[in-house]
Amino acid sequence: MIKIAIIIGSTRPGRKAESVAKWVHEIARKRIDAEFEIVDIKDYDLPLLDEPVPPSMAQYSNQHTKTWSLKIAMFDAYVFVTPEYNHGTSAALKNAIDYLYQEWNNKVAGFVGYGSTGGVRAVENLRLVMGELQVADVRAQVALSLFNDFENFTQFKPLAIHEKSVNAMLDQVISWGKALKTVRNK
Ligand SMILES: Cc1cc2nc3c(=O)[nH]c(=O)nc-3n(C[C@H](O)[C@H](O)[C@H](O)COP(=O)(O)O)c2cc1C
Repeated sequence: MIKIAIIIGSTRPGRKAESVAKWVHEIARKRIDAEFEIVDIKDYDLPLLDEPVPPSMAQYSNQHTKTWSLKIAMFDAYVFVTPEYNHGTSAALKNAIDYLYQEWNNKVAGFVGYGSTGGVRAVENLRLVMGELQVADVRAQVALSLFNDFENFTQFKPLAIHEKSVNAMLDQVISWGKALKTVRNK
């Protein structure tokens, strides 16, 4: 069974990311073809990247990096739950991604974005980053609207249709997740 992390991509007080990630997890855990776990970057208290050696060398000096590395290495695939900040992903998520390299390689990513236009620009931004990390990013994505899926732009009340798009994205993540496991095993 492959293991998939649902990564909470915002650390802001009052963030929407947490309720979105919990909703994704509720849908995901009904499935029997993969295991899912929420990973909250806030729990890892990562400062702005403070490793002297580039992450691709995997020579980590700091305990926070080693802890983060062990967690991310555990998974076969990732679902990034990302806000859109100034047409990109959050600095906190980008920083957490930048900390590591080999832990991401030959794995798979799916995306759940949210914002005024479904967080699509943040997801496009993440897709560029995934290319450099050798992460295969699936086509299907979930685009939640601040207008339609959050009551008064705050309380998360997703339209029912999105459950289908979460499962469509997970179908692709699981399929590619299994395939890339064989590449890593070589
Ligand atoms: C610094 C900042 C920049 C933002 N820029 C955008 C943006 O470019 N596009 C957009 O749709 N929403 C933008 N927003 C609104 C966010 O989508 C909204 O605040 C959302 O709740 C952020 O996610 P979070 O609550 O999980 O941190 C921005 C919010 C912040 C704080």
